[in-house]
Amino acid sequence: MSVDVRTITESEFTDWLRALATGFLRPPVVREDEAAERLPHMGLPRIRGAFDDGRCVATYRSFAQELTVPGGGKVPASAVSNVTVSPTHRRRGLLSRMMDADLAAAKERGDVLSTLIAAEYRIYGRHGFGPAASITEWEVDVPRAGLDARWAGPGDGGRIDLVDGADVRKLGPELHERFRATQHGAVDRDERWWQLGTGQVVMSFQPWTEPFYAVYRSAQGEVEGLLVYQADEKWGDAKQPLNTATVRDMIAVSPAAERALWHFVCAVDWITTVRSGYRASDDLLPLLLPDPRAARIVTQADLLWVRLLDVVRALEARTYAVPGSLVLQVHDAAGLAGGRFRLDASADGAVCAPSAESPDLTLDVRELGSLYLGEESAVRLVALGRVTEESAGAAAVADALFRTPRRPWCPDIF
Ligand SMILES: CC(C)(COP(=O)(O)OP(=O)(O)OC[C@H]1O[C@@H](n2cnc3c(N)ncnc32)[C@H](O)[C@@H]1OP(=O)(O)O)[C@@H](O)C(=O)NCCC(=O)NCCS
Repeated sequence: MSVDVRTITESEFTDWLRALATGFLRPPVVREDEAAERLPHMGLPRIRGAFDDGRCVATYRSFAQELTVPGGGKVPASAVSNVTVSPTHRRRGLLSRMMDADLAAAKERGDVLSTLIAAEYRIYGRHGFGPAASITEWEVDVPRAGLDARWAGPGDGGRIDLVDGADVRKLGPELHERFRATQHGAVDRDERWWQLGTGQVVMSFQPWTEPFYAVYRSAQGEVEGLLVYQADEKWGDAKQPLNTATVRDMIAVSPAAERALWHFVCAVDWITTVRSGYRASDDLLPLLLPDPRAARIVTQADLLWVRLLDVVRALEARTYAVPGSLVLQVHDAAGLAGGRFRLDASADGAVCAPSAESPDLTLDVRELGSLYLGEESAVRLVALGRVTEESAGAAAVADALFRTPRRPWCPDIF
């Protein structure tokens, strides 16, 4: 009997959750009340599944998202999540069938691109996704870092206050809106994100531990940064503190706030290790320490992947560091975004249009996804044989145009 790939009905949601748990190696039992709790927030019309003899054997979901691009513009994205195929049904094309249908629907809807966070590097390139924003996680050996133990707070007239979850729900959304307008690679957070992130809503299947919330206010009293961290309680045999602070979230709209919040968490008494969480790869943290080697990299990886669906709107949505022009020949095996396009960038904005001129660069849509937010270098992709330079120096022109002074970063896992 052939496997049926389609959107699911409400009555199939519990079975779909069971298949999701199976694919992610979690215990494959789902209580009806858990299903009822989750269903209203999942966007049923965009949940897909594969069914073999009536049993769900693959899961997939997409939802509307906004992605910030260089310059602060926001593009409508189709975020992909909850992708699994049960181990009995892998490598038979089920993911490909769900993905093809969902990307076609996203294109039809007018989404500029699709985003996802890949569990494994080798899954999504064939579907036109390229790694577009990486992360780095550091572990700081606080005693070695050499920070001044007498630090008594920011010396710039600003202040740090501990607040509770209700305060965060009030000030967090507005702070985050300001933050994401300055950070390409960031995505929107809805009200539920803040409810889940502050324990106002606790899912029965996810244990909740209340973290500490610290807010930085500038000398003018403006909220400019939020730090969320947890601490364990660990002491050595000689009664020395060995506590680790783990940063769950940290967003800042000014360098002063970012510097102060890092300094704060590294200066809490008893904390001897700080784990940074997934940060932009050019985060200030290591260089804020008198001894940057005290910040050891524990994770360095791709995080956000981008799949362009509309090259013209994508390239016109962002800004460019310098004026310049390029003709790009974009291949897309799925037939969604390919073509030849001329990009003219200037201080007044960018114009992109289909073109018949000879191309400067030939590349797959996957490579354009990696260049789009400024993460990757065209010169490097040419050296790797993955982008073809049709006119001499075109890759350097592309880098001058596309690369950004600060790295793209997506702070959220979805
Ligand atoms: C990743 C996963 C969803 C792939 O599903 P699938 O139905 O087996 O994928 P498909 O059969 O459509 O694969 C299409 C192609 O991708 C390749 N591919 C799929 N998963 C891959 C992986 N993890 N690593 C390398 N290649 C992979 C297949 O070999 C196939 O190649 P081919 O076209 O050359 O034959 C499935 O293996 C799974 O559920 N893994 C565990 C959960 C997970 O990692 N989910 C992703 C969360 S982001």
